[in-house]
Amino acid sequence: MKFGVIGAGQMGAGIAQVAAQAGFTVVLRDVEERFLQRGRSVIERSLAKLHEKGKLDATPEDVIGRVSFTTALEDFAACDVVVEAIVEDEAVKKALFADLGRIVQPSGILASNTSSIPITSLATASGRPERFIGMHFMNPVPLMALVEVIRGYATSDETAAFVVDAARRMGKTPLSCNDFPGFVSNRVLMPMINEAIQCVMEGVAEPEAIDGIMKLGMNHPMGPLTLADFIGLDTCLAIMEVLHRGLGDDKYRPSPLLRKMVQAGLLGRKSGRGFYTYGTA
Ligand code: NAI
Repeated sequence: MKFGVIGAGQMGAGIAQVAAQAGFTVVLRDVEERFLQRGRSVIERSLAKLHEKGKLDATPEDVIGRVSFTTALEDFAACDVVVEAIVEDEAVKKALFADLGRIVQPSGILASNTSSIPITSLATASGRPERFIGMHFMNPVPLMALVEVIRGYATSDETAAFVVDAARRMGKTPLSCNDFPGFVSNRVLMPMINEAIQCVMEGVAEPEAIDGIMKLGMNHPMGPLTLADFIGLDTCLAIMEVLHRGLGDDKYRPSPLLRKMVQAGLLGRKSGRGFYTYGTA
C-alpha cells in the first residue's frame, strides 16, 4: 500500500507513523523543510518510546525507513490513498484537494483528517467525490484507538470499505458516521470544552478546579481545558465556528474568551501557553 500524508504537524506526523508501523510505504509532505524535520523528530521520539516499552514489531529505524519526506505534491501521483492533515481552513484545503485530484492516479482515494469542515464540500473540490472520505484520527494518533470514518454525500461503498480496512491494518478501530457539522466526536466534545471556557470567563471556577471536577466527577482521563490546550485553541475555535455556522443555534457560539486567547496567540501546548503554561513551545 502506498500511503500519502499531507501536513507534518501534530496529526500528520502521527498518521504517517502509524501507517509506517502498519508496513505501508509512506510519503509525508509539508510546505517547508523545517516542518518536515520537526515531524521527523516527533516520529523518531514516539517510535523510540514505543520500542523501549516493547510495543513495536520492527526496529524504529525500519519503521521510519518506510517514510519519505517531501515538499513536492507530484510525489503523491502513485498513492493508493492520501490523507490530508493541514491547517483547519476550508479554502486552503479545497485548493489542495483540487491539486491532488489532478495529480493522484484516478484509482487513488483522497481523505481528510478535518475536525469539522464538511467532507462533501471538500469532496466536490477534489473532482472525485465518490473516492473521497473523512478519516478523522484522534490526538495523539499513535495512542488513540478511534478513527471516525465520515461518508460524504457521494462516497462509494468501495471507498468506505477500503479506508475501514486500512484503519484496521493501522491497529485502529474505525467507526462510521455521516457528514453533518462536527460529525459525532466534535459535535459532542467541543460544546463541552466551550462551556468550560465560559466557566473560566465568568469566574465560576479556576481552570484547575474545572478540570479536576470533570476528571474526578465524570471519570474523564483529562479535564476539558487541558484537552483544549492539547488540541490547540485555534483548532477549537475553528470547530466551534463551523458548528455555529452549520447548525445555526447560538448554543454553539464560540466563547469570547476562546476568541480572545487565539487573537493573543495563546494556542495551548503548541505555542507554550493556553490555559496552562508549558515548558517548551
Ligand atoms: P498543525 O498546525 O500541528 O499542523 C499542520 C501542518 O500542515 C503544519 O506543519 C503546516 O506547515 C502544514 N501545512 C499547511 N498547509 C500545507 C499544505 N498546503 N501542504 C502541506 N502542508 C501544509 O495542525 P494539526 O493539529 O496537526 O491539525 C491538522 C488537521 O487535523 C486539521 O484539519 C485539524 O482540524 C485536524 N485534527 C486535529 C486534531 C488535534 O487534536 N489537533 C485532532 C483531529 C483532527
